[in-house]
Amino acid sequence: MAQDAAKGEAVFKKCMACHRVGPDARNLVGPILNGIVGRTAGKVDGYKYSEINHNAGEAGLAWTEEALLDYLADPNGYLKKFLADKGQSDKAVGATKMAFRLPNEQERRDVIAFLKTK
Ligand code: HEM
Repeated sequence: MAQDAAKGEAVFKKCMACHRVGPDARNLVGPILNGIVGRTAGKVDGYKYSEINHNAGEAGLAWTEEALLDYLADPNGYLKKFLADKGQSDKAVGATKMAFRLPNEQERRDVIAFLKTK
């Protein structure tokens, strides 16, 4: 399945209810997403994460393209499974604050291609 960063920029409008990218980006409801592809989860300066998002980062979650592809389909389910697979289900407390899903796989691929440019 191909990835299209230009289409992903349009998809990112859905994310902009809560996130910004670019030189003037600030944390809003969600953290800034500059440089998110490849970064460790839960590490944006000055952003107060949920415990489960923070703990997944501490357990080694990195936002690879593959991780983002699964995460964006079901953020809470993804974080729970990640911690369970690490044998750290006790760290899967509460729920992520990211109450948004992107069910369409092509849109997920395209928005990831866009984020790679930021
Ligand atoms: C967290 C991506 C839409 C609210 C995150 C994270 C990523 C992400 C990668 C984890 C950041 C990190 O670990 O540093 C996206 C993308 C979206 C999207 C690509 C659109 C396709 C939204 C929307 C909302 C939202 C629409 C609000 C309704 C949040 C919040 C967090 C978060 C509150 C922090 C989660 C926590 O601390 O548990 N998002 N997001 N996101 N997102 Fe989104």
